Amino acid sequence: MNRRFTRILITLTAFVTGLLICGGVWAQGDVNKDTDYRKLKPPGSYGTVIMNSYSKESSAVNPVVFPHWAHRGKYTCKACHTDLGFKLKANTTGVTQADIEGGKYCAACHNGTVSFGANECNRCHSYGIQVKENSKIEDSLKGLPTDHFGNKVNWVSAANDKKITPGAAPGGKNDLTSLDLDIIIPVTKFTPHPPDVKFPHKPHTEQLDCATCHPSIFKQQKGGNTDMSMMKIISGQYCGTCHTKVAFPLDDCFRCHSQPPPKIEEPKADEKAAEKK
Ligand code: HEC
Ligand code: HEC
Ligand code: HEC
Ligand code: HEC
Ligand code: HEC
Ligand code: HEC
Repeated sequence: MNRRFTRILITLTAFVTGLLICGGVWAQGDVNKDTDYRKLKPPGSYGTVIMNSYSKESSAVNPVVFPHWAHRGKYTCKACHTDLGFKLKANTTGVTQADIEGGKYCAACHNGTVSFGANECNRCHSYGIQVKENSKIEDSLKGLPTDHFGNKVNWVSAANDKKITPGAAPGGKNDLTSLDLDIIIPVTKFTPHPPDVKFPHKPHTEQLDCATCHPSIFKQQKGGNTDMSMMKIISGQYCGTCHTKVAFPLDDCFRCHSQPPPKIEEPKADEKAAEKK
């Protein structure tokens, strides 16, 4: 029984390691159509939202392309998602061009002073066209600490190293309170289990309001989210609200499953003898 358990665990560890190595190889450019295990999004389209709730019906303009990576260096998540009222799900905010012309939403900054103005239609309505004024991710994020997944930037290190200093929106307040509280989420719903998960409040509360997560995404109680599972996370709930779309993607298993792995038990002496027979 124990040996079977050990074997399954080794297989699982090998599988997960395999996935990670694939990621590493991909990062070196060696994964192609024949060898990749599945397509990873190119870094420039990870976290890029296509806003087309109105524009798809109007032939006058292309849908809007909003790149998170072009904004994360200057602004916290809270600046846009709490202070300016953008929702955490694509095409649910209901921005109209009248809002833009009235200085709301994007135009809190895209007013010709903080950044380009609302008259430069194509820079936002850029779906399906090349806009030469808009930058490429590799030029824009040059020099930031790298990572294998998502935008291929380690946003936490970038902020810790002061390479970026995300702050408030114009007129907003930078009043986030960083909470240094790690929560270990034990992985109990699956045997053999992968390493337990460590949820660090610190990098999250430097970017996000408590109310973004509590209570709408997580009950504010250790072990209180009994319904959480990896499947739900993959389908975009719980951690997956952000870690499938904008924050580093789920491919990076061990960045969450970061606790020391469960010990693989040595076969006992009598089992070893039995194996020899
Ligand atoms: C400059 C403004 C801005 C900043 C900063 C920002 N966002 Fe967003 N975010 C948006 C907009 C705009 C949308 C699209 C909303 C819509 O379509 O209704 C969006 C959508 C999202 C979505 C949903 C994406 C989808 O495909 O459904 C998530 C998740 C998200 N943001 C997370 C974050 C996180 C996490 C941060 C901080 C690291 C962040 N955002 C920072 C403006 C911003
Ligand atoms: C809180 C301020 C702020 C808000 C809100 C904001 N932006 Fe920006 N945006 C900026 C700034 C500043 C830059 C310039 C970034 C730079 O030069 O590093 C920028 C750059 C851009 C770029 C150019 C990126 C590139 O490739 O060079 C696009 C496109 C863009 N924003 C679209 C949008 C859209 C669409 C919205 C609303 C859905 C929006 N922005 C909301 C501040 C904002
Ligand atoms: C700073 C970014 C930005 C700029 C610049 C911009 N728009 Fe928009 N516009 C948006 C966003 C965001 C939406 C909402 C998209 C959606 O959800 O479909 C929108 C929606 C629209 C819509 C459809 C909704 C409605 O209210 O009718 C039209 C038409 C439109 N824009 C025209 C224009 C024109 C014309 C210009 C140039 C004069 C322009 N936009 C410049 C961001 C921008
Ligand atoms: C990114 C989402 C997120 C944000 C933002 C966030 N939390 Fe949490 N919080 C969690 C998760 C996940 C747990 C653990 C829930 C579980 O174990 O099921 C938690 C648990 C807690 C707990 C329970 C600790 C215990 O021992 O029972 C407290 C208290 C808490 N958070 C306070 C805060 C405060 C205060 C803020 C703002 C400064 C905040 N959280 C911001 C996700 C978040
Ligand atoms: C509301 C959005 C949101 C939710 C929900 C969320 N995260 Fe995050 N998380 C972020 C952002 C933003 C970062 C910064 C790094 C990045 O963007 O890649 C981050 C970073 C992290 C880091 C990296 C810390 C480091 O030091 O490198 C870990 C680990 C992490 N999250 C685990 C979790 C876990 C586990 C959950 C669910 C229990 C969760 N997160 C839920 C937005 C979120
Ligand atoms: C953003 C953080 C995060 C990432 C990245 C992540 N997981 Fe998880 N995973 C969790 C959390 C949180 C749980 C615990 C759910 C619970 O039981 O409460 C979990 C649970 C699990 C479980 C136990 C089954 C279950 O549904 O609870 C397995 C197996 C698992 N993860 C595998 C993986 C693999 C393989 C990867 C990489 C492909 C991965 N995880 C990436 C957060 C993450």
